Amino acid sequence: MSFFAPRLARVLPSPTLEMTRLALEMKAAGHDVIGLSAGEPDFDTPDFIKQAAIEGLRRGATKYTAVDGTPSLKKAIAAKFARENGLTYTPQEISVGAGGKQVIFNALVATVGPGDEVVIPTPYWVSYPDMVRLAEGEPVFCPTAPERGFKMRPEDLDRVLSPRTKWLILNAPSNPSGVTYTADELRAFADVLRKYPDVWVLSDDIYEHILYTDAPFSTLAQVAPDLKDRVLTVNGVSKAYAMTGWRIGYAGGPAALIKKMGEIQGHSTSNPATVSQVAAEAALTGPQDFLIQQRAAFRERRDSLVAGLNAIPGLRCPLPEGAFYVFPSCAGLIGTQTADGATLDSDTAVVKYLLTEALVATVPGSGFGLGPHVRLSYAVSGDVLRKACARIHAAVDKLKGVRTDV
Ligand SMILES: Cc1ncc(COP(=O)(O)O)c(C=O)c1O
Repeated sequence: MSFFAPRLARVLPSPTLEMTRLALEMKAAGHDVIGLSAGEPDFDTPDFIKQAAIEGLRRGATKYTAVDGTPSLKKAIAAKFARENGLTYTPQEISVGAGGKQVIFNALVATVGPGDEVVIPTPYWVSYPDMVRLAEGEPVFCPTAPERGFKMRPEDLDRVLSPRTKWLILNAPSNPSGVTYTADELRAFADVLRKYPDVWVLSDDIYEHILYTDAPFSTLAQVAPDLKDRVLTVNGVSKAYAMTGWRIGYAGGPAALIKKMGEIQGHSTSNPATVSQVAAEAALTGPQDFLIQQRAAFRERRDSLVAGLNAIPGLRCPLPEGAFYVFPSCAGLIGTQTADGATLDSDTAVVKYLLTEALVATVPGSGFGLGPHVRLSYAVSGDVLRKACARIHAAVDKLKGVRTDV
């Protein structure tokens, strides 16, 4: 009998972390690897946020707090939801955890058990299916197509919902595809969801502020208020304010669910780091111009990376509307031969080739539930992106049998 719990048997190691490990190994061996696999902004946390944290420490923000967030941080989060999303949440309807990741984990562990299904559109953020499996539930995937900009259609959703569905996870802008939904598109999902009164929706809005569309950001509970009592709206400061290492995420949702999420957190990690809560409060209540500057920088990089990749034979890169990733198809590189006679038979093989031949670290799309694709993040400077494209181009030029018709 294994020492390890059966629930671990179906959990897969994160492909993002695996590629990061390989890239680090190559860097340690002295290679000049360009890392485009990470999921964090390269910008530094704005100074006023760091200052608030330093002052917080001086004032004694060094002790335990309430398990799921200080009253003043919850007040700042409630104000953010009201200001930016037109959503009203009381402190009892808000939970703060060590990143959006912990908040999502708490919600799934609190509600999902054997036989329960969680619907996840593909391509998806790698952690969703494994969190569902850790909760002993079943991820059910809803495929989307690059030709339709990776958008799930209401009829696709209708097809995968079942009496066993506990949750639908919506993530827009999405990691990895960058897909976003307009208010009208969300309303069309709401129409489907009204037919399934027992299905809850986890709306992961973590990339809310990294959005390039003219239309403003919309979230489900805002456009379908009648569904608000079965929606958990998840967000955080990691991506918006370049605060990945501070580990603060939060959610607004029905008080009964929020209470259970707090109970789980109370028996696992307790409160998120006190000083980080002070910093997150400063981020949410302070000047917001950083969001505009960051978005403009990301937009420029996105445009240059998409153009650079589309100039490479065998790659086809749609223009994402949000987040800081591109997700090109590498179908034209599948079946090609390398100079030493190996065949690239999968996106994982392509990614390994790009790492060893071009010294560019990326992540295979199959890890996000959709191959053959490659995910590249553009959380690096424009110069580095141009260098990465030139290297990828040179490596692809060495392949035999590249196709441009797929
Ligand atoms: C889609 C999505 N949701 C949630 C998270 C969690 O971020 P954090 O735990 O830093 O808040 C990430 C991070 O990569 C993500 O890409």
